[in-house]
Amino acid sequence: MERLQKVIAHAGVASRRKAEQLIVDGRVKVNGKIVKELGVKVTPSDKVEVDGIPVEGEEPVYFLLYKPRGVLSSVADDKGRKVVTDYFEHVKQRIYPVGRLDYDTSGLLLLTNDGEFANLLMHPRNEIEKVYVAKVKGIPSKESLNHLQRGVRLEDGKTAPARVKVLSSDKQKQTAIIELTIHEGRNRQVRRMFEAVGHQVQKLKRERYGFLQLNGLSAGGARELTAHEVKQFRALAKKSTGK
Ligand code: URA
Repeated sequence: MERLQKVIAHAGVASRRKAEQLIVDGRVKVNGKIVKELGVKVTPSDKVEVDGIPVEGEEPVYFLLYKPRGVLSSVADDKGRKVVTDYFEHVKQRIYPVGRLDYDTSGLLLLTNDGEFANLLMHPRNEIEKVYVAKVKGIPSKESLNHLQRGVRLEDGKTAPARVKVLSSDKQKQTAIIELTIHEGRNRQVRRMFEAVGHQVQKLKRERYGFLQLNGLSAGGARELTAHEVKQFRALAKKSTGK
């Protein structure tokens, strides 16, 4: 279910504000009846018309971006910072990121205009594995690593069990490179998990999202998902929600 003005805006007919005006002006019909109220919600099977012309839904599109550091996971920024959709200026559909990576985090990010798909992937029940590689200050002890693995207490609750692997450590510089695999997607989760065990994250990259990796892309590079990959994600989500 989507709000009528959103459906009209997403189809590229008018901005959200103008779509509201079209509704109030009585120029919009749903299933043949004029609708003048703004609260109405419609499903994809409802027939929406503006001035008697059917509103077609946007064709769904799915992209993978290797987000560089110093880019916002957003569609616009009032401070003029670079945003992830700047890499898709040639795409006419209104795409947005599925979840977010911090401004200073690089790595794999999906973008789509398919709200249902985005919700499916972001649903907490849907245990999509995310693999992060973090450069941390100090060299975590066995105890700290076990703690990360079992789950650490954060202000929004204990984290679910994770997988931890030390990729390298530099005794002289007192830094370590650690791979952390988690299923959850809380705000700044990886940084907060390391902070909870006393290690500040200096650099963070998401290497994998579900079965997708960055293979061959460099920072700022992007590609469309294949139809098969989209299906694979839907199947993964179904499996974990049991639907
Ligand atoms: N965890 C973080 O701390 N930051 C991210 O960008 C992603 C996961």
